[in-house]
Amino acid sequence: MTNDLTTTFTFLNGRTVNRIGYGAMRLTGQPRNFGPYADWRGGIELLQRARDLGVNHIDTARAYGPHENEKLIADALVNEDGSYGEMFIASKGGVEKSATSLTRDTSRETMKRHLEDSLASLRTDKIDLYYVHAPDGVTPISESVAALEEMRQAGKIDMIGLSNVSRVQVEEALKVAPIAAVQNRYSPADERDEALEEMIDWLNEQGIAFVPHGPLGANPMRQGAIVDPGDALRTLLARSPNILAIPGTTTIAHLEDNAAALAA
Ligand SMILES: NC(=O)c1ccc[n+]([C@@H]2O[C@H](COP(=O)([O-])OP(=O)(O)OC[C@H]3O[C@@H](n4cnc5c(N)ncnc54)[C@H](OP(=O)(O)O)[C@@H]3O)[C@@H](O)[C@H]2O)c1
Repeated sequence: MTNDLTTTFTFLNGRTVNRIGYGAMRLTGQPRNFGPYADWRGGIELLQRARDLGVNHIDTARAYGPHENEKLIADALVNEDGSYGEMFIASKGGVEKSATSLTRDTSRETMKRHLEDSLASLRTDKIDLYYVHAPDGVTPISESVAALEEMRQAGKIDMIGLSNVSRVQVEEALKVAPIAAVQNRYSPADERDEALEEMIDWLNEQGIAFVPHGPLGANPMRQGAIVDPGDALRTLLARSPNILAIPGTTTIAHLEDNAAALAA
């Protein structure tokens, strides 16, 4: 266990982000993160406040809404010149959501179609980091990653990430393309998982970011942190220098508390 509270992380391609980011999933219709966020103006203000606080890593997914979360981010963060400026936007494809169901499809065709959807919703021609949201259990991870690598070569994404994966799947993916980040569930509130602990250290050795989702232990479908947010964020960031936190919140007061966690 290292104890590194540096405030930034540099990806393998040289791009640097602050280690406390923002997970935007909850800025969607509730319950179930489905449909548009009810307080669209408030969502824009929260995202712009995050930018003002120096939170420059925003995590979203095509499935959040679907589409609606990415559209809200575009409304809040696309500058007059049409760019995101210094903001680093990460999104995901491969999960389809309806009001009542969630299905995974990480086939080559769907990964490419979802990425095109994300580009349109985010109103950009390039996304900084695009994840396979969750392997569908049928498509080999190599196929999903090859599809994203094709899109990376075409200049539509800068980096490839994997979410909800095992170390074996990361190793398979690395045979096909460089992997910049892994996003799995991990929180001080959750039961210790030795394989995951080893994976975090191994990813760190490879220079790959680990982005814990649900960092405050929250159930993605329910409201409320399960642990003290400041303690949890400090524990996560001290755990390994490759950990990037993306706590979710719907209030500017909590956003400000979370952004200040490193300084506290
Ligand atoms: N890859 C995946 O499969 C996956 C799955 C789930 C989530 N994610 C990503 O991970 C991000 C974070 O996950 P999450 O939002 O589910 O869970 P979380 O970050 O563990 O917790 C969010 C909850 O904690 C509360 N909270 C946040 N800061 C607080 C503070 N300072 N004081 C008190 N309460 C606070 C929020 O309520 P308030 O709104 O009241 O602040 C919200 O209900 C998501 O936004 C998403 O980007 C990815």
